[in-house]
Amino acid sequence: MKVVTIGSFKGGTGKTTLAAVLGTALTQRGIKTRIIELESSTKPLQRFEAVREFADLNSPSVRDIVLSGGQPDVQDWQIAFRQTFADAAREGVELVIIDTISMWKPEVIAAHLLADLVITTVTESPVDLYQIMPSNGPNMQASRPYSQLIDLVRRHAEKANKDNFNWFMCLNRKSHLRTKIGESVRDRLQDFCDETEIQLIEGLVDRVGYRIMMETGITPIDEQEDQPVQRSLLAARTESRRLASQAVASLGMSVLNDQMAFS
Ligand SMILES: Nc1ncnc2c1ncn2[C@@H]1O[C@H](COP(=O)(O)OP(=O)(O)OP(=O)(O)O)[C@@H](O)[C@H]1O
Ligand SMILES: [Mg+2]
Repeated sequence: MKVVTIGSFKGGTGKTTLAAVLGTALTQRGIKTRIIELESSTKPLQRFEAVREFADLNSPSVRDIVLSGGQPDVQDWQIAFRQTFADAAREGVELVIIDTISMWKPEVIAAHLLADLVITTVTESPVDLYQIMPSNGPNMQASRPYSQLIDLVRRHAEKANKDNFNWFMCLNRKSHLRTKIGESVRDRLQDFCDETEIQLIEGLVDRVGYRIMMETGITPIDEQEDQPVQRSLLAARTESRRLASQAVASLGMSVLNDQMAFS
């Protein structure tokens, strides 16, 4: 069983939306997928699963993990995650996606340490850069930049001789408008990714279809009979499927009914 962790320390970069889209795309490909959500108060993905089931749409299963008592540390969370993975594997789950929260917390660190693939979501905004990079001007530096987590995970992977570990930096919620500031953020991210051996990839463009899907449970990749097929919907389908293909390829997973899902 493989584990994909979606992370970023900046809120609203589209982690949860990406988890829902990827989970749905992989489920459509015949990969038994489970999402673990760390947002345990509002549980947006459990709601997403419920509305999909109500609408009779095939859904990835969604669970949360609740640790009671004391203040669990990274090791406690790793134990809890491993237990959850073992339970999932017994149920035939082939792929787990962990949707994390935008905070330096033990459960977020543990989720990154246990991943086979990390997908870091980032938007083309300078604020996102300040959250990631170790230094970006004296007043702008985040107290705990995401780069510290990258270092920690890399050191851990080296010590554990973990091979086949991949990391994507996913440019997400991209506007249709091209701006100078957006391009400058992208260039600086590309330099950062080159240094840290992370692959910069294109994510989900900013589209209405993604904005409403957590409410309706219907993603752009669900083919609805009564739905007019607009260009934006087709583009969303293509980018969602491309992302799913990139994830599957990086995990070295084979897909049984690729033909069926994409015919
Ligand atoms: N590609 C997209 N196009 C349009 N809207 C999007 C897209 N991705 C996310 N959104 C919207 O942006 C908001 C934040 O997205 P989301 O909840 O997925 O981010 P997040 O990183 O999980 O946030 P948090 O850090 O709070 O958990 C939501 O209202 C969502 O509908
Ligand atoms: Mg979220």
